[in-house]
Amino acid sequence: MTWDETIRYIRILPEHSVLVEKAYFDEDLHLNVRRFSESDEFKETLKIFKKYKPNASKVLDVGCGNGISAINFALKGYNVSAVEPDKSDTVGAGAIKLLKEELNLENIEIFEDFAENINFPNNFFDVVYVRQAMHHANNLDKFIKECVRVLKPSGLLLTIRDHVIYNEKDKEWFLSSHPLQKYYGGENAFTSIEYKNAFKKAGAKIIKELKYFDSIINYFPATTKEVLILKNSNELRQKKKLINKLGSIANNWLVWNLYCLLSSYKPLNETTIPGRIYSYIVIKK
Ligand SMILES: C[S@@+](CC[C@H](N)C(=O)[O-])C[C@H]1O[C@@H](n2cnc3c(N)ncnc32)[C@H](O)[C@@H]1O
Repeated sequence: MTWDETIRYIRILPEHSVLVEKAYFDEDLHLNVRRFSESDEFKETLKIFKKYKPNASKVLDVGCGNGISAINFALKGYNVSAVEPDKSDTVGAGAIKLLKEELNLENIEIFEDFAENINFPNNFFDVVYVRQAMHHANNLDKFIKECVRVLKPSGLLLTIRDHVIYNEKDKEWFLSSHPLQKYYGGENAFTSIEYKNAFKKAGAKIIKELKYFDSIINYFPATTKEVLILKNSNELRQKKKLINKLGSIANNWLVWNLYCLLSSYKPLNETTIPGRIYSYIVIKK
């Protein structure tokens, strides 16, 4: 099945209804756009835009699917160029064209292209934003090189929600766990080193690598409250184990922190999440 066929197929399967909602795959394109605009992920993304590029005007959204982000950037007043190789009205450029028309937006242009092949001049955009698309790169170095090339000097490249694997075995585990891989077979992931090397080779500076638990941008649709509850309950369980071994001294702040330091114990463990998601804040030098 193609990606477009996969999404149309899972829409009718009750076991995928939560995924359809949380991944913004509803048939009602406007509903997806509204849900995304209200998400904590989008609010956090806008904060990053404001922090690193407060006066940004021109935004390039690469691999923008059905337009949830590109359309919302346009609704926020940015001048948006949207690049998406898939032509479909379901999850591709066709969907963004429909939204543009129905919302009467004049500040968004849509281009059917791969990131590796974008046709914009050098030093053109204030921000290049890539959501869940970089890990699909046909050629990661070329993909990022193009994103950096079209950015103005000191422009912001924000790549978000990309799958990270530690090695080939970890990749196999991720691919076999992915709920849609069995239908369309198009999933992929890279190591953190591969992403970081590609940014460096493209002449950009990595300001922050946001690991899975560092930002709601990654762990959404889980909430920050849910993550905090998980952290506390894991910590409590581990402390109980230590108390069983050492007695009540394990409750002492210093003893507990020393234990965490020496044993490298972390209450939030991303290794148990297949293809855990990372984001990168990158600036063109
Ligand atoms: C998981 S979807 C994410 C779509 C959208 N950014 C979102 O977050 O909803 C990945 C998107 O990347 C696009 N894509 C795949 N390979 C690409 C490439 N080499 N360059 C640009 N986009 C690509 C796909 O067509 C797809 O729309």
